[in-house]
Amino acid sequence: MKSIGVFTSGGDAPGMNACIRSVVRTGLSLGLDVYGIKYGYNGMIDGDIYKMKSYSVSNIVQRGGTILKSARSKEFMTKEGRAKAYEQLTKRGIEGLVAIGGDGTFTGANIFHEEFGIPIVGAPGTIDNDLYGSDYTIGFDTAVNTALDAIDKIRDTANSHDRVFFIEVMGRHSGYIAIQSGIGGGAELVVVPETSITMEDVINTLKEGRDKQKTSSIVVVAEGGDQGDAHQIASHVIKELPDLDIRVSTLGHIQRGGSPTSYDRILSSRLGMAAVEGLINGEKNVMVGVINDKITYTSFKLAISKAKPINQELMRLVEILSI
Ligand code: F6P
Repeated sequence: MKSIGVFTSGGDAPGMNACIRSVVRTGLSLGLDVYGIKYGYNGMIDGDIYKMKSYSVSNIVQRGGTILKSARSKEFMTKEGRAKAYEQLTKRGIEGLVAIGGDGTFTGANIFHEEFGIPIVGAPGTIDNDLYGSDYTIGFDTAVNTALDAIDKIRDTANSHDRVFFIEVMGRHSGYIAIQSGIGGGAELVVVPETSITMEDVINTLKEGRDKQKTSSIVVVAEGGDQGDAHQIASHVIKELPDLDIRVSTLGHIQRGGSPTSYDRILSSRLGMAAVEGLINGEKNVMVGVINDKITYTSFKLAISKAKPINQELMRLVEILSI
């Protein structure tokens, strides 16, 4: 293999730049040509591709977002779109790909590999931490710390006004950001899609807190849960406990930006290097990950289809710490 391409796709995540930098510099150090593909699969289809040098990735290790830009491509979901993308790659002699993204990215990569045989190694880049095959994904640690910082600030005002706050965090269908920021932020309750917490449980927890003279409470809600979003849960609770002064705060996309934490920079750099080395050593159709601090390769199929369960010990911890 003499030439590889790298791209970021799906929701951006802090640390993607550190991963791109690592892919480029590992590739160059192995004597490869490295091409940057902009806007994910869209740029692959359109030929928005350029040769990267070492200086192309200077001064980006500390920056959030992705210098290669990102997109969710509808056209790549069609066979014609994928054929166009393949043509663009072969035109430039690109023989292998590093795909930095989440489950949508790897679903596309898996089909692309099966149809055209091009070797692809994925690096898990999503704040959601919802990919089987890696204990942590690029951007998750930063997103948790951003959420935590917001929770700390909200706690100050909640406390001053004796209020209950419902704080919604991201995670699509996964409660990882909620559980970690909830524990770190001292939440009374964490509502995540992976558990069967009912509206009754939420009401009972807040009632118990009130009866124990708790003057303010924080409930962290993961988006995408069965109970609805934070506004829906809060409006239900207001009806049942009208004496509580309730507010809702949705943290939204601030969780996706910002300078990556040291953990994310190192994780991203390790994954980038291992992705390129994997490609060179014949890995294909796999996602590189870190499990128990060791580099591993998991097939795309498993990474996207197998659920990564929330550690139940953490759920128990929330309960114990909020008495
Ligand atoms: O997958 C990352 C993520 O930030 C999810 O947590 C969230 O549900 C989704 O992307 C939001 O997507 P968009 O930026 O397209 O609104």
